[in-house]
Amino acid sequence: MNCLVRMRSVLGFLRINPVAGGQRSMSQSSLAGKVAIVTASTDGIGLATARALGRRGARVVVSSRRQANVDKAVELLRSQSIQVTGTTCNVGNGEDREKLVQTTLDQCGGIDILVSNAAVNPFFGSIMDTTEEVWDKILGVNVKSAFLMTKLVVPHMEKRGGGNVIFVSSVGAYQPFPGLGPYNVSKTALLGLTQNLAPELAHSNIRVNCVAPGVIKTRFSAALWQSEDTMNELKKQLSIKRIGEPEEIGGVIAFLCSDEASYITGETIMVTGGLNCRL
Ligand SMILES: NC(=O)c1ccc[n+]([C@@H]2O[C@H](COP(=O)([O-])OP(=O)(O)OC[C@H]3O[C@@H](n4cnc5c(N)ncnc54)[C@H](OP(=O)(O)O)[C@@H]3O)[C@@H](O)[C@H]2O)c1
Repeated sequence: MNCLVRMRSVLGFLRINPVAGGQRSMSQSSLAGKVAIVTASTDGIGLATARALGRRGARVVVSSRRQANVDKAVELLRSQSIQVTGTTCNVGNGEDREKLVQTTLDQCGGIDILVSNAAVNPFFGSIMDTTEEVWDKILGVNVKSAFLMTKLVVPHMEKRGGGNVIFVSSVGAYQPFPGLGPYNVSKTALLGLTQNLAPELAHSNIRVNCVAPGVIKTRFSAALWQSEDTMNELKKQLSIKRIGEPEEIGGVIAFLCSDEASYITGETIMVTGGLNCRL
């Protein structure tokens, strides 16, 4: 085979096999045309996730309890050329959850991605001192609302031929943080929710995955990273000797929602800098 013939056959191969030409990785990481709901997305990990999805071309719907926070997040993301809309939604409230879904349908025409990111922790102390009220609040917001949001969006994902659901858990799901008993339990429950939903929703071409962040620099974890002593103790347990940035969670979530992760479901990815690595 002379050089020209060989070149022609390589070009022909690339035309019918875009994978070999590198086009596959570009198109498979793209979320262009997708519509994503991210709960609790006006700050921290939720906001970084909205940005990561938006940068890959998704149209994102941000929400949280306070209108002022929603307005600020929408303005910030728009200034970064992200297609975004926003509404208030306290995920613990059924009417708010329905409003979030309806607003998304009205303004974006469908739903492809749900990132269930909201969580609360109103208690610190011995698990034996927790009350029914504390358990109701934590399980209600962190677990029950994650399921009820999923139940609301699944019929709309089915209409689009499939979708992705991501739950935001925590390293505390595996290795409890001292003093945060009910919160840790709620995060372990999300691993179970992921595994229970994944096989059922696979029939509808919906993948269900979970991300378990370690200590990430947000307001939620400020008590940890603002204390030098706590940080020094923490660093001893980290392989990567720093705490994580919200963007490092957002990127993993965007990957899980992309076609590059098309064979991953029912999985939890730990993003912890090596804290409590598991086999
Ligand atoms: N940061 C960490 O180190 C870390 C580690 C492991 C897991 N996580 C998990 O990551 C998720 C996000 O945490 P974060 O650190 O990013 O928190 P964050 O920076 O404090 O942001 C919290 C966001 O949640 C909203 N929010 C709070 N309660 C809400 C509710 N009931 N309904 C809707 N929105 C609500 C807040 O806005 P409004 O005040 O306007 O509602 C804000 O936008 C949580 O599930 C958390 O458990 C965090």
